[in-house]
Amino acid sequence: MAQKIRKAVFPAAGLGTRFLPATKATPKEMLTLVDKPLIQYSVEEAVASGIESILIITGRDKSSMEDHFDISFELEQVLKERGKDDMLQLVRSVAKLANINYTRQGEALGLGHAIYQAKGFAAGEPFATLLPDDIVDSEKPALKQMIDVFEKYDAPVIATMQIEGEAISRFGVIDAEEVEPNVFKVRDMVEKPPFAEAPSDLAIIGRYIFTPDIFAAIETTKPGAGGEIQITDAMRLLLKDRPFYAVKLDGIRHDAGDKLGFLIATVEFALKRNDLGPEFREFLKGLKF
Ligand code: G1P
Repeated sequence: MAQKIRKAVFPAAGLGTRFLPATKATPKEMLTLVDKPLIQYSVEEAVASGIESILIITGRDKSSMEDHFDISFELEQVLKERGKDDMLQLVRSVAKLANINYTRQGEALGLGHAIYQAKGFAAGEPFATLLPDDIVDSEKPALKQMIDVFEKYDAPVIATMQIEGEAISRFGVIDAEEVEPNVFKVRDMVEKPPFAEAPSDLAIIGRYIFTPDIFAAIETTKPGAGGEIQITDAMRLLLKDRPFYAVKLDGIRHDAGDKLGFLIATVEFALKRNDLGPEFREFLKGLKF
């Protein structure tokens, strides 16, 4: 039987250059979609999928993430004194979400290198990895969709979605055979291929379930696209020795690390809110284009 997935890793050490100047002094993971920082969306997804323990891979100038998930004593005190019970509960619930650990990547040598920092944390167990830029809005949490497949096949699982046209070359891309509806056995994969060389329209989305043998594969992975140690290349090495599966996620994926993707996610999430949605919808309807 497949081991239970209890742990999740969040690579969050990137410099956020796509979002400058906002990310000069603020980690991009702390940019807010409506009223919640980006990283909290995927932490909540992980918790809703059964994850108990989280490791966030951070870098310099990113300590506001740690503060966000910690107890805020002064704030709680003030809210208590002012009788703002709802807000007090809200602030406390963030600190209670999960058991969160932090480690620093040091040099930013690529996603594979970032995930390698989780070797000790994983301690021989299979684990999930979530890229916080990728927000998946779905009924059943994206990671839970993947855990179900991991439990069935007892093998690593990648999230995938169809991407139309040339945009595919901004992703890792898999070549795969559908073995049951929306579940694929991976034949090959490549990181950010030119459009003409993409093996399919199935892009890798930032959710993975790895087995501990990924670490040895990362150790032998040479720098690839962009001169970085790519996790796609490490998975490709491992694919020679073991099967990999991919799940076509049921949901909408937003690239919140991109300015346009962030704006779209903001509008969609705001429209869904009971407290903001109706008025915001009226405002949008009244806009002149
Ligand atoms: C990373 C992965 C890529 C994947 C993408 C999903 O790329 O390397 O394979 O398709 O995330 O968002 P990045 O967007 O960090 O360059």
